[in-house]
Amino acid sequence: MPLEVIHFPHPTLRHVSKPLKRVDAELRRWIDEMFELMYQHEGIGLAANQVDLPYRVFVINPTGDIDKKEAERVFINPVLSGGKGQEEAEEGCLSLPGIHAPVVRNSTIRVQAYDLQGNEIDEVLTGLPARVVMHETDHLDGVMFIDKLTPTQRAEILEDIEEFEIAFRSRQQSGERPSDSAIAARIAELEALRT
Ligand code: NI
Repeated sequence: MPLEVIHFPHPTLRHVSKPLKRVDAELRRWIDEMFELMYQHEGIGLAANQVDLPYRVFVINPTGDIDKKEAERVFINPVLSGGKGQEEAEEGCLSLPGIHAPVVRNSTIRVQAYDLQGNEIDEVLTGLPARVVMHETDHLDGVMFIDKLTPTQRAEILEDIEEFEIAFRSRQQSGERPSDSAIAARIAELEALRT
């Protein structure tokens, strides 16, 4: 089954992913698919739980340009530290298409992780790459950007969020989406394979 981007409030988006213990051929194929989906939906980052996979991995290309392959990065088991400074910027999310809001984040962050070849990543990021890495690492902890808004900002997008909730629950009722318990069972199975 091809991967697809799941939308809020799909429960996998609230799953806290455990670190990956192994990377196999299937996971590599999924990572390729994640890049494809990211470009298809005009995103600059995509986390595994946004494609219904319970793994601590995300892909980014801060340029958003499919022709700039050199900007593509895979982060496995990312750990953030040393956040400094504060900056506010507009964010969106492929799991909440059409919703945008300003989010305050650190302007500088250190990220330690592994790439797909098993090389260690240890970098201090600023600007858009820092923001994307923080947004995607949040996903792996079950956190979405709408959780970071002030009550006033949240009130402004409340109706849109409610529409997503209604749409998702009606898809579950029609059988177009699995039940919460079926989703949880599948996640546990996939998790047992690689974490
Ligand atoms: Ni997102």
